[in-house]
Amino acid sequence: SAGKASLNAETVWGAVRGDYSQYLFEEHDAMAYSKFNVFHWHIVDDPSFPYQSQTFPDLSRKGAFHPMTHIYTQSDVRRVISHARLRGIRVLPEFDSPGHTKSWGKGQSDLLTPCYSGSTPSGAFGPVNPALPSTYQFMATLLKEVSSVFPDSYIHLGGDEVNFSCWKSNPDVRAFMQKMGFGVDFTKLEAFYMENIVNITTFLNKTAIVWQDVFDYHELIPKDTVLHIWKGSPANYRKELSRMTKAGMRVLLAAPWYINHISYGQDWRNYYTVQPLNFSGTAEQKKLVIGGEVCMWGEYVDATNLTPRLWPRASAAAERLWSDEKQTSSVDKAFPRLQDFRCKLVRRGIRAEPLYVGHCKHEYQGV
Ligand SMILES: *[C@@H]1O[C@H](CO)[C@@H](O)[C@H](O)[C@H]1NC(C)=O
Ligand SMILES: *[C@@H]1O[C@H](CO)[C@@H](O)[C@H](O)[C@H]1NC(C)=O
Ligand SMILES: *[C@@H]1O[C@H](CO)[C@@H](O)[C@H](O)[C@H]1NC(C)=O
Ligand SMILES: *[C@@H]1O[C@H](CO)[C@@H](O)[C@H](O)[C@H]1NC(C)=O
Repeated sequence: SAGKASLNAETVWGAVRGDYSQYLFEEHDAMAYSKFNVFHWHIVDDPSFPYQSQTFPDLSRKGAFHPMTHIYTQSDVRRVISHARLRGIRVLPEFDSPGHTKSWGKGQSDLLTPCYSGSTPSGAFGPVNPALPSTYQFMATLLKEVSSVFPDSYIHLGGDEVNFSCWKSNPDVRAFMQKMGFGVDFTKLEAFYMENIVNITTFLNKTAIVWQDVFDYHELIPKDTVLHIWKGSPANYRKELSRMTKAGMRVLLAAPWYINHISYGQDWRNYYTVQPLNFSGTAEQKKLVIGGEVCMWGEYVDATNLTPRLWPRASAAAERLWSDEKQTSSVDKAFPRLQDFRCKLVRRGIRAEPLYVGHCKHEYQGV
């Protein structure tokens, strides 16, 4: 008031978040800050994403092109974590298994399941092999190293999109299933594997996050695990929110914020109007929704389009997740605020794409 403003925070993180440039046009709800709202970048062994681990290309040929190559060592990871920490950002690793592990097999023999064609190995490999004790020893060693480098109390263990066809083809896996009393129910095998690695994380004093698939297969996962919803339409994820919270599990919602899915027009409006707590359940159940997550998957994204595609879409989701719902119910009132914020980003050198036709004040002062 009267040209003055003051900001008091109980912790340094509150002060970092209370950035005045936002405070001038937003009323923040203190409770919303204590939620666990995150932005998810997937680091994959796929050359389409800038943060990748890959072997050095052949540079011996004359005039060889030097692509942007990152070999991530522990000290690089520590640098990223420290850079983020000073900006009030926590970096959580996801080590997704047993699916999505093709690249792991290159470095760790016997980790992946050999697929069979009839009675002989076909030469192809499937998900991590859940039938071998060595798998769990490897995972324990890996997760121990991960938890020594990433200080955060959460580790994401994946567990999504496991294709059972290779497990089905493998006679050793089938024999293991018989021995364990799983019959031919491969969802039980995946549940067994996930329960084992969630137990490793618990032993390491970390909290596991897993994709919804794990709950869908097997509701009896350790209660402390956080479930991550990524699938489906609003009707579907509302049902999932009800089911998971009814089972007493904590949930992170990502399904409505897959911002790599682009479409013509102002798709940020869809991200803005999501109501994560609009599902049938008690007040106790609603408290178990610990936040939302914006995801940007790397299939069509690299250093050339990451930033424009990310912003201002992620800003829309951020205001939804970080602000009191009552103060932010109008998408039309959000428009000028978001447009202004996008201009702030541009002025600070962040190449955020426009929301619509127009220009920023700093770009044109008139002739
Ligand atoms: C699962 O893997 C098999 C063998 O690689 C493949 O033929 C099949 O299309 C895959 N299924 C799905 C749903 O991706
Ligand atoms: C995981 O830990 C729980 C609690 O200690 C235990 O009951 C369960 O059998 C363990 N699961 C596996 C697959 O080892
Ligand atoms: C376990 O983690 C919690 C939360 O991160 C921490 O407060 C506690 O000191 C840790 N305990 C051990 C034995 O490391
Ligand atoms: C809230 O959920 C109901 C269905 O349960 C739906 O009809 C309504 O559109 C939702 N509201 C919003 C803003 O998503």
